[in-house]
Amino acid sequence: MNAYDFSGKTVLVTGASQGIGEAFVRELSRLGAIVVLVARNEKKLSAIASELPAGKSHVIAADLQARGAGQKLFDAVKAKGLAVDVLINNAGYGLYGPFEALDLQEQLGSIELNVVTLVELTHLFMPGILERKGGVIQVASAAAFQPTPFTSVYGATKAFVLSFGEALWAEYRDRGVRVLTLNPGQTETGFFDRAGDLPKQKMATPQDVVRTGLKSFHAGHASVVQGFMNKMLTFSNRLMPRALVAKTVANMIRPKTGSLAARNG
Ligand SMILES: NC(=O)c1ccc[n+]([C@@H]2O[C@H](COP(=O)([O-])OP(=O)(O)OC[C@H]3O[C@@H](n4cnc5c(N)ncnc54)[C@H](OP(=O)(O)O)[C@@H]3O)[C@@H](O)[C@H]2O)c1
Repeated sequence: MNAYDFSGKTVLVTGASQGIGEAFVRELSRLGAIVVLVARNEKKLSAIASELPAGKSHVIAADLQARGAGQKLFDAVKAKGLAVDVLINNAGYGLYGPFEALDLQEQLGSIELNVVTLVELTHLFMPGILERKGGVIQVASAAAFQPTPFTSVYGATKAFVLSFGEALWAEYRDRGVRVLTLNPGQTETGFFDRAGDLPKQKMATPQDVVRTGLKSFHAGHASVVQGFMNKMLTFSNRLMPRALVAKTVANMIRPKTGSLAARNG
């Protein structure tokens, strides 16, 4: 498959105010794209946009966790007279801790953001993307490949995104649309500020993740796992019974009593 030429294309990035989304924005802008930055923090989005070439970016502040947020964003994009060529569904969060101890509304909110709005935006923008032979990048996670005790809802949302993204890849590949599911492993971003005291491994940078994602998008791949060790882990997990994988993960990342007490006040 030919490399995708981002020059002059309109790319909408959700979760663009920091982390992986911000890195996508900066790299795509460097490649000549017109970027649409979406997240809740308008101040941060405007600060990033002010460093991009004049007239080549748009800022839309939106809380994508609210029901119907996708339609509202779609309408706001239309009102600006923009036609999106590539949609990057990147906004997302996860929570770490025993399932019953984590706030229910926050857990449900992560399903709204990571899953419901992602599907809604993909559905709304797909007809235009089809017309322009563009694409979609769904940001899932290495956590999508196995059950993830103590981040159980997060892992489940990302398993949905991976399955959904790969299915769409197969549906649209003959129609000139690329759908890539990008699966980062642990990456140095604000993700961990929100997730809680999740045990950390060696981290990639957001720029590493973007590089991997764009390389696979150009190649027309269905999905990609960022980083050699993450690739090995997600592959080896497939060779073991899922219950054994779940038990092993639980033993590896079980919260320490002290950190639980801190979380629960
Ligand atoms: N970092 C990792 O280790 C890692 C690993 C695997 C997968 N991922 C995935 O990578 C994606 C990007 O995360 P990140 O690591 O870059 O984390 P991050 O630094 O926390 O960035 C998350 C982004 O999502 C936005 N966001 C959060 N809630 C939102 C809402 N309700 N409405 C609109 N935007 C919202 C945030 O902006 P505002 O706060 O301004 O709204 C921010 O721009 C996520 O889907 C995450 O699950 C991350």
